[in-house]
Amino acid sequence: MIYHEVLVVGGGLAGLRAAIEAHDAGCEVGVLSRVHPVRSHSVAAQGGVNAALGNHPDARDDNPEKHAFDTVKGSDYLADQDAVEILTGEAPARIYEMEHWGCPFSRTEEGRIAQRPFGGAGSPRCCYAADKTGHALLHTMFEQTLRRGIKVYEEWQVVSLAVADGRCYGVVALDLKTGRLEAVRAAAVIFGTGGAGRIYARSTNNIINTGSGMAIAYMAGVPLKDMEFIQFHPTSLFGNNVLMTEGARGEGGHLLNALGERFMEKYAPKAMELAPRDIVARAIQTEIDEGRGFPGGYVHLDLTHLGAERIMERLPAIRDIAINFTGVDPIHEPIPIQPGQHYFMGGIDTDADGATEVAGFFAAGECACVSVHGANRLGGNSLLETMVFGRRAGAAAARFVKDGADGVGAEKAEKVLTAAMAEATRRVTWVLEADGPEDPAALRDELRENMFTNIGLFREEGAMKAGLDKVRELRERFRRIGIRHRGRRYNLDWARNLELEGMILVAEAIAAGALARRESRGSHFRTDYRERDDRDFLKHTIARLTEDGPELEYRPVTITKWEPKARTY
Ligand code: FUM
Repeated sequence: MIYHEVLVVGGGLAGLRAAIEAHDAGCEVGVLSRVHPVRSHSVAAQGGVNAALGNHPDARDDNPEKHAFDTVKGSDYLADQDAVEILTGEAPARIYEMEHWGCPFSRTEEGRIAQRPFGGAGSPRCCYAADKTGHALLHTMFEQTLRRGIKVYEEWQVVSLAVADGRCYGVVALDLKTGRLEAVRAAAVIFGTGGAGRIYARSTNNIINTGSGMAIAYMAGVPLKDMEFIQFHPTSLFGNNVLMTEGARGEGGHLLNALGERFMEKYAPKAMELAPRDIVARAIQTEIDEGRGFPGGYVHLDLTHLGAERIMERLPAIRDIAINFTGVDPIHEPIPIQPGQHYFMGGIDTDADGATEVAGFFAAGECACVSVHGANRLGGNSLLETMVFGRRAGAAAARFVKDGADGVGAEKAEKVLTAAMAEATRRVTWVLEADGPEDPAALRDELRENMFTNIGLFREEGAMKAGLDKVRELRERFRRIGIRHRGRRYNLDWARNLELEGMILVAEAIAAGALARRESRGSHFRTDYRERDDRDFLKHTIARLTEDGPELEYRPVTITKWEPKARTY
């Protein structure tokens, strides 16, 4: 049986940062990744990563406390403020670490790391590498992983967690190349498996972002937190929803409706295009819904006034994408955009060290919910979260291993893994041999459309109930799926269908949490409860999986310095 002291699942920024930390703390580490690590979704991050460095002339007095306040206000006061202070306090160190590891950040004229304005930030603090920041960070992080000789298993898909008596012993995973199922024993497991954007239609996310890590944890008894908070990025490309970075507005881009109006002045007169994402996305959708968009449902992101030199230096990828996918050159013409699902604020319930309720099981990055984003994440805080909390999870897992906190021998662990392997074998074999009438691809499409339509940007009781009923119908129909291809090697039909049940379970947790939260807060906007209700809903939603679906409970939000106030921009 394969064994690692620390097993990291996920080769994106959170996973690799966790692996590096656990390795440097003296642990023997393995990383298991669904794709070659530099193809993980972190690579697609564009606009930047926040840290109060004070390098911009308009932000010399910036500091972590101001960054924390902006984050808490941006979260609509649902973020845990102690965790936010960790995020912003550790931010400068994480950025300088990446700089010292060779990350090619863009530079100011004095040679410092360049920073640009981003939504919801009181001053320009978003560090960037043109509009390919995730690419620059992930390649740097992967170099550090290789340099340490950390073992990476590429194209392995985890199927289940091996948990018994509140303790995690490892995972069962499918080697996609051979189609072989393997039990992987570990003294500690860390998930950095990313988000679940592909549960929604019109997502900016990579096809691998199915929420598999969230679902596997949920099925193993680990609760999910605040799943109803789904971020829609204001500017995804009309037609295919590829991200058009917030950095485009940070550089001075305007949003214009079909009447040529800079409509954000009606919605956020001070911050304008740089209001937080929940506000800008709803403003765009309102313009479209009220007939001031373009036919088909989009508005314009206009960069033409920025000039060719600035666009080519700061936003070269945006220009390439716009030209290649729509034939529009942003130097000369505005880009057609619409809101697209982008990020999950919720996830696997963890503390600020990535620890979960299950001993020896940790999570970090988008799959986890610490919570630092509350009801709405600020752009530039997710890349930061991967590094701050990836590092902390790696350190905590190493402490867990070194302290001998597991207190169990290999014999017990192997027994648990053998049982987990038997159960996983039953499940994966069932999916591989399924010959029912339901087409899983159709189920997936119906799920995505249903979530976008019924539990999307604007929500209301009737639609959400219909959305939840539909999710439950899909759960039933999943039992009758048929698979098209039964080979074991690189069978992506099999791999994707294995994830589908988990996608449905995660969708059910989103719908149930959203229905129960009778207020509007951040990204969760209800047309039937339009106000925030701190008396009844200043609390986190915790969803546990039962036979009858998610069971919800609530937990207080940690307030350290900032009492909730009205949120205006
Ligand atoms: O717009 C962007 O570049 C996305 C950044 C983020 O999600 O943090």
